[in-house]
Amino acid sequence: MSETRIHCPILRERIMTAEQAAELISNNAIVGMSGFTGAGYPKAVPVALAERIRKHNALGGEPFRISLWTGASTAPELDGALAEVNGVEHRIPFQSDPHCRNRINAGEMDYVDMHLSDVAQFTAAGFMGKMNIAVIEVIGIREDGSLIPSSSVGNNKAWIEQADKIILEVNSMQNLKLEGMHDIYYGTTLPPHAPVMLSHPADRIGEKYLQCPADKVIAVVETHLTDRNSAFKAPDAVSVQIADHILEFLKKEVDAGRLPKELLPIQSGVGNIANAVLEGLNEGPFKNLTSYTEVIQDGMLKMLKSGTLDIASATAFSLSPDGLKEFNDNIDFYRDKIILRQQDISNHPELARRMGIIGMNGLIELDIYGNVNSTHIMGTRMMNGIGGSGDFARNGYLSIFVTPSVAKGGAISSIVPMVSHVDHTEHDVKIIVTEYGVADLRGLSPRKRAIAIINNCAHPDYREELMDYFDRACNGGGGLHTPHLLGEALSWHQRYEETGSMKPAK
Ligand code: COA
Repeated sequence: MSETRIHCPILRERIMTAEQAAELISNNAIVGMSGFTGAGYPKAVPVALAERIRKHNALGGEPFRISLWTGASTAPELDGALAEVNGVEHRIPFQSDPHCRNRINAGEMDYVDMHLSDVAQFTAAGFMGKMNIAVIEVIGIREDGSLIPSSSVGNNKAWIEQADKIILEVNSMQNLKLEGMHDIYYGTTLPPHAPVMLSHPADRIGEKYLQCPADKVIAVVETHLTDRNSAFKAPDAVSVQIADHILEFLKKEVDAGRLPKELLPIQSGVGNIANAVLEGLNEGPFKNLTSYTEVIQDGMLKMLKSGTLDIASATAFSLSPDGLKEFNDNIDFYRDKIILRQQDISNHPELARRMGIIGMNGLIELDIYGNVNSTHIMGTRMMNGIGGSGDFARNGYLSIFVTPSVAKGGAISSIVPMVSHVDHTEHDVKIIVTEYGVADLRGLSPRKRAIAIINNCAHPDYREELMDYFDRACNGGGGLHTPHLLGEALSWHQRYEETGSMKPAK
């Protein structure tokens, strides 16, 4: 493989095994790794490092642990393997691995959940120390030492700049025709920043390759391994209803002259509901849409194929095995319709505001006044993280939050009197959509928001009780701007923890 993928003679001399490369990572190191939503993460060195940690820790003595910084979530071979051996002391930013989640919630891993747009700048500033080493997956190394990025860009530009040393994984499983699809922008590091001159998702403002000083590269590891590529569930009835409501809402916005007929660039969160919304958009009346988002999911490929979508800008792929096959089989068609950028540009607040992004993201729970919790189960247990939802919710033109009205078979109402944790405040949440309908919160005072959310979005099983709480709060003697019964506001969560259901005992 080295002849076809590694063209830089100096770096070809640094080829070694994953085990040898893992030996070059020291205990307590701050390690940056590539990877974003299961794409473009290193697949061999983290597994070898986990094995080294397992053996080291079995001997007793000072445990071997690292700080792990990535783009976003990765996969079992990275987050999973390192969390399983308890090898991660400190983790940023978004993760979604079950082992990782368990360590975080057991208090065994320090997790700092951050806005994805902010990570490159925050780490470059040195607020959390200096990165010792980066492990980056690429699909090839050019003769001059520059790198062909893989199926995600994430924080790779930042990690290559910040790390003292670099290990490259060159993955020959990734399609070489990805070359040229990336746009790496070298105009940002620390403030004061110059304006980022991008005003349309199709704009290219950077370079196709990652610059990388060859003298920093201490190891090159060849791999031939697939990305995580999790399958999507076929859209269920609830997702389809949510998608239909969003479509209706967008049509009304166009009719009212508040959106152009080709809408504004769409950002869509990850997961099954988001994918169902994309499928719905594909069947809807809209044409010539654009997308400025984090991840390219299967639904987006379908939209590109049908001509509903003209261009998709993102920082990573997040395809199912079928989606990946479709992409690889037709890469010549998709090549000029997809641009992959680093995440400080894909999620850039200035760009989200300039382009007027329509953000659509999932949530864990919201309260009757429109505050959204995207991250914490019952206020204390981390699910995944805020990801890019805050970047788009605050800075976009429309922030739409979608959720089924209940979770866990109806035992949990997604709409509660007061959220047990806040990620998106009432100021950033514009539209709520559940399978029951849409609550358009724009311009509504808190009490009017409560009525709209309860009547339009809550599950019928919980509607009466939510309205009862609201009515009693309005007569409870406290302030009438955002009425609450403070002693009762979190009682639904407490009841769930005690009885396994938010429903009151009959
Ligand atoms: N209490 C407890 N559990 C809840 C819950 C609640 N109020 N609401 C949802 N859940 C559980 C579901 O039961 C499900 O659990 P399971 O996997 O054990 O079945 C899980 O959370 C996921 O919920 P689901 O309804 O399938 O939604 P999803 O896949 O769309 O995920 C989030 C929802 C909030 C977890 C997900 O969107 C997320 O991580 N968001 C934050 C980051 C983000 O927005 N990223 C995109 C920005 S670009």
